[in-house]
Amino acid sequence: MTSEPVPSALPRFPRDFVWGVSTSAAQIEGAVAEDGRGRSAWDVFAAEAGRIKDGSDPRVATGHYHRYREDVGLLKELGVGAYRFSVAWPRVVPDGSGAVNKAGLDFYDRLVDALLAAGVAPVPTLFHWDTPQALEEGGGWLVRDTAEKFAAYADVVAERLGDRVERWITLNEPAELTLLGYGLGQHAPGRQLLFEALPAAHHQLLGHGLAVQALRARGAASIGIANSHGPTWTASASEADTAAAGLYDLLLNRLFAEPVLLGRYPDEELAALLPGPVAEDLKVISQPLDWYGINYYQPTLVGAPGAEGTGAADFGGIRLPPELPFAPQEIEGYPRTDFGWPVVPEALTELLVSFQERYGDRLPPVVITENGCSYEGIEDAERIAFLDGHLRALHAAMAAGVEVRGYFVWSLMDNFEWAEGYARRFGLVHVDYETLERTPKASFRWLRDALREQARG
Ligand code: NOJ
Repeated sequence: MTSEPVPSALPRFPRDFVWGVSTSAAQIEGAVAEDGRGRSAWDVFAAEAGRIKDGSDPRVATGHYHRYREDVGLLKELGVGAYRFSVAWPRVVPDGSGAVNKAGLDFYDRLVDALLAAGVAPVPTLFHWDTPQALEEGGGWLVRDTAEKFAAYADVVAERLGDRVERWITLNEPAELTLLGYGLGQHAPGRQLLFEALPAAHHQLLGHGLAVQALRARGAASIGIANSHGPTWTASASEADTAAAGLYDLLLNRLFAEPVLLGRYPDEELAALLPGPVAEDLKVISQPLDWYGINYYQPTLVGAPGAEGTGAADFGGIRLPPELPFAPQEIEGYPRTDFGWPVVPEALTELLVSFQERYGDRLPPVVITENGCSYEGIEDAERIAFLDGHLRALHAAMAAGVEVRGYFVWSLMDNFEWAEGYARRFGLVHVDYETLERTPKASFRWLRDALREQARG
């Protein structure tokens, strides 16, 4: 496609709705051995042969560490009011605890100042999967101590940036780190513990709660978490499929939402598998949040393993082992992204409405902290269609009574897509990985025009 799509007239969003884009440190910064940064579990994992599909690693990524001013310029041109980035724990506290690296903090200080000067609100995520390697070697998130060290690091960041940052995010997608990093070994740290990975979920949630306390003590005004959620569709009405889909929903959705929102685990048997004084921890985990962040990409169709036609689908590009008691299946009848993910905007409405029904007034206002798609090409009409469809679906959820305060596109620019390497391009801005040149895509211009249109109303 070469012609520029005409900006569609999106429904009108509230005047104070927050429009943003998201990135994360390990995926964009590069400069992994500069200015005193310590190693992260992802540096080590990516250096092992065969871990990353295209044989790449995050050592350079998009070179954002050195090009952040140019990237802030792109944010300004795009016209977003907010930018969600992550602070790399090993850049700030190289060994995960103990000595603070001033040069690391200085980087985020400069970034925050540049954002504010451009009229873009900084929204830092304190942890987006880049566990300091020194802590990983001691057990990482399987160990309770990591939660406490995370809170101490949160305090260090809040002390430095808290005078200029209003909105904070504690964790990004603890479900994926638990499942893919500790359960299946497809992400760092490459452990394959299956259900024995569950302590990593509890300790991340505890780390979230302790970090909320640390941030509040520093006067943080507005705190959320970025959890991944998607509707679970049941393959058939059979008892086996219903049970399998229920378990999947419990592990990927409820296990991470309910401790935070309701102060309890969704299942007593499961809670009994978790280490430490769980009942006490749940009080820390469930401190009130100002908003609840949801990363939404796709629904999942789930049935029992072994039944005819089941177990064939990838889980975000990853094949689940057959010994798991649930099996994602292909969702037919929808377009797919280059990643193979089904494009189902109406499932975003379904997700939000079902959250509202499930959690009622325990659900604070919602922010969509990630939504996006991977497609090749700079004339990315498919990404425009994706964003257009999802924004309409979001608006429909708001019209149905769900309080949604903001929407962040994943991602500002193409970046290191974890085990996929650089092959998946989620950006509104194209990155040439030879030259690191940035080129805004058609979707960038579409969003810029749509935001101008919203601002006019
Ligand atoms: C969610 C993760 O937070 C982000 O790091 C990743 O790139 C996107 N999903 C796309 O897979």
